[in-house]
Parts: sequence; structure tokens; C-alpha cells
Amino acid sequence: MKYLIVANWKCNPVTLKEAESIFQKTEKGIKDVKNVETIICPPFIYLSKIVSEKSGIKIGGQDCYSQEKGAFTGEMSPNMLKEIGCQYVIIGHSERRKYQKETDKMINEKIKAALKAGLRPILCIDNIDQIKKDTDGLSQSDINSLAIAYEPIWAIGTGKACGISEAKEMNLAIKEISGKSASILYGGSVSSQNAQEYIKEAGFNGLLVGGASLKPEEFIEIIKIVDSI
Ligand code: PGA
Repeated sequence: MKYLIVANWKCNPVTLKEAESIFQKTEKGIKDVKNVETIICPPFIYLSKIVSEKSGIKIGGQDCYSQEKGAFTGEMSPNMLKEIGCQYVIIGHSERRKYQKETDKMINEKIKAALKAGLRPILCIDNIDQIKKDTDGLSQSDINSLAIAYEPIWAIGTGKACGISEAKEMNLAIKEISGKSASILYGGSVSSQNAQEYIKEAGFNGLLVGGASLKPEEFIEIIKIVDSI
């Protein structure tokens, strides 16, 4: 199975020109990569501009709503993401839990809606309790199809990445409750300096990269390091 490396651009960059430039540089830099599936999750507004069927890069949303359509101003449904060419969607990122006050119940509904629409959810969690609540009512085969990103809140955007032995412990604990076939990712201050350890030593199936994914050279380096493991 390929390693998954997910770029979470968050609310960046400010212009479409910059977004296209980051995407194209990344695409060019990883064209010979074989063992990594790279997924870029830009702000919604750039999705249709950068999605390309020929690209080796897959595209995902940073969030989605729990309903297919209707009177929900400002929301983006998983079906719309699918229709525009997304294969993935990040759900339950800690910034949404904090700033948009997303609850486990809301996240649970979003996961179900995303699966129903044919998207692969990338569920972000900070602790085991959240996985149990967020996957409540899902069949084992649905849980197996998830990507679950362990992202300790204090490690996000701080430059203080999680220690390898602590991350490894969480990886094993997540695998224990999610079954062996879900992909477990690490996220939180990932860089080219620490990427290899999370895969090789802590045994993660991939990485969720925030800040470093906006710097093409650094992001390409991370992907190449993982590709050569
Ligand atoms: P970071 O963000 O790599 O900038 O720490 C990770 C994330 O929020 O997914």
C-alpha cells in the first residue's frame, strides 16, 4: 500500500495565482514519485481551478457538510466535492473543532455523509475518545476505509512535533480500535527533518502536513524522503 501524504493548505494562500504556482511546482517536483499518494486540500474556492485528471496529485476538501443539498447557506456538500473531482475530505480538524465549535456528533454525521457520497474521509483526532465518538454507528468496513490522522493539538503549527515514542504508542492504540486496515497518519509540525521517523520508527502509514505543504521545495523533500523508505 502506498504511503499517504496530505497537504492541508488551511486558509492559504490569498491569491489564485499563488495557489496555482504552489500546485504546479509540487506537481512537477514529484512526478517520479512511486510509493506515495499525494493529496492536496486547498481552500474550496481553488478546487475547480487546480483539479486535473492527468495530475498525479489527488484533491480533497478541508471540510464538508453533513447534508447532500438544501437551505444551508455557506455550506459545501460532500456530493459537490465528489462531483468536482475530490476523492478525499478532511473531517474534524482541531481548528474546526475549536473555531467552528464542531462537536463529535457533527463530525460523526459528516463522516457518514462523506462516505455515502463516495469520498474517503481523513478524520483528524487528538485522542482516542474522539475516534470512538466520531465513528459511532459506522460498520467495520467503513472504519477500515478511513484515514485517521493523529494530530496532537499542541503540535499543530507550533514547530514542536510529537516525540516519536509517544506518537508510536498512539499509532498502535488507534490501530487497535480502528482495525488493522485503516491508514493512520501523523500530523503536527511535520518537516523534512522529522518525516522519516514518523514512518520508519513510529510506523505511520502517512503524514498530514500543514505549514510545510505551502513551501513546495520543503513539501517535495518530505514526499521524496517518504518515497524512498
Ligand atoms: P502543521 O499543521 O503541519 O502546520 O503543524 C498540521 C495540520 O494542522 O494539519
